[in-house]
Amino acid sequence: MPTLPWKHVIESQQFDRKLLEVVFRVADQMKADLAGERKYAKALDGKIMASLFYESSTRTRFSFESAILRLGGSVITTENAREFSSAAKGESLADSIKIIGGYADVIVMRHNEAGSAVRAAEVSSIPIINAGDGAGQHPTQALLDMYTIVDAFPDFTSLKVAMVGDLRYGRTVRSLSYLLTKYENIEIIFVAPSVCKMEMDIKEYLDKNKVSWREETDLAQVAKEVDCIYMTRVQKERFHSSDDYEGAASKYILTKEIVAGMKKEAIIMHPLPRVDEIPTEVDEDPRAMYFEQALNGLYIRMALLYLLLNND
Ligand code: CP
Repeated sequence: MPTLPWKHVIESQQFDRKLLEVVFRVADQMKADLAGERKYAKALDGKIMASLFYESSTRTRFSFESAILRLGGSVITTENAREFSSAAKGESLADSIKIIGGYADVIVMRHNEAGSAVRAAEVSSIPIINAGDGAGQHPTQALLDMYTIVDAFPDFTSLKVAMVGDLRYGRTVRSLSYLLTKYENIEIIFVAPSVCKMEMDIKEYLDKNKVSWREETDLAQVAKEVDCIYMTRVQKERFHSSDDYEGAASKYILTKEIVAGMKKEAIIMHPLPRVDEIPTEVDEDPRAMYFEQALNGLYIRMALLYLLLNND
């Protein structure tokens, strides 16, 4: 079994095509194993994962914790580190990381500040996995997103992806944009309210890596031409008070009528949680992939933990 060439998982650009294939193949093995033999059930016996979450989470924290438990390891956790760790007493992130490094074999950390995962990695004696750092990145989400896309379009030679909603503060669309540059003939269409358009650093990165992109405003028109629509929640918690949150949040809703105009083989993705940008009546459409996407997070995170911590 190959190993990963670095200690920490901080940003999605760390993964080249070859590494992506490795992670995806191990994720396939994990998926098959959970449904069958369970030969990996004790693969990480004795390993301890610390899940250190300064921001709320359902999918990322539970899937990481499920992943290590399903591999035979153990979890130490705080789901609200701002309140229930010594951060509440003023302890610095660096001190907390140094201390936890003595108690665990890997730290999965979500933090409200962009750049916090890099700061943690600089002082950590054990691997840090970035589980979302503010409006920065969410690399393991991008891995499960790409795994879902490749599963739906195994032999694609070109792909048109629409990213919709909060592209300014959305770390998932930022990380996925980086990862899409690893593939040929990708076209990205950004559809966002004016207060949360995709930032220039991503647009420049796409230009540099020869990924075609454009901005549009008519979701119904865009929906007709793409292979994948990636909806996102407008994140109220990251908005400045002067921004028009209500106007932005209600601007792009993927209604059943819009979905009816999509290609038959297209897919609808969302990192979740959603508010009302995808009405629940869309869930029964066979193109709605977001619950499978979230489940893929378990296989991807099992694969990552296995590749980072397995000593065999
Ligand atoms: N997609 C995602 O990161 O979900 P959670 O915030 O629930 O972890």
